Amino acid sequence: MERTFAMIKPDGVRRGLTPEILARIQRKGYRVVGLKQMVIARETAEAHYGEHKERPFFGELVDFITGGPVVAIALEGENAIAGWRAMMGATNPANAAPGSIRADFATTTGENVTHGSDSSESAARELALFFKDGELIA
Ligand code: TYD
Ligand code: MG
Repeated sequence: MERTFAMIKPDGVRRGLTPEILARIQRKGYRVVGLKQMVIARETAEAHYGEHKERPFFGELVDFITGGPVVAIALEGENAIAGWRAMMGATNPANAAPGSIRADFATTTGENVTHGSDSSESAARELALFFKDGELIA
């Protein structure tokens, strides 16, 4: 069993995609062990995307991710980290596999609807950043 951190980004929430994305997660068979709608504080966003802080898109990325409510999700399941990344599709929607969330719902890299941790280390770090211990179902 693995846990991963998933997020519906502000574009997805604004466009009313939350029910569709949660339905895909349920149909896949992942267990939602944490779920909350929130506005991300700037310092949390900068920590979350810390690996990208020298990249030219960092400022816009932080502005975007803090610019409206997101839905933060803790997922549990067999191979959930890679499995959720596969459900999302590639970072650039133009390269995302047909039927993936980014292929179906996004056109630009900057606003690509969902986030997913890319490794077990990232998953542990991101889950701890967004959820307190008592907020996750045991
Ligand atoms: P990254 O971690 O590379 O992608 P992923 O979300 O698939 O793990 O990048 C984080 C986010 O930064 C990405 O979802 C969208 C944004 N981004 C850009 O705006 N421009 C870019 O060139 C890249 C690589 C990412
Ligand atoms: Mg990433």
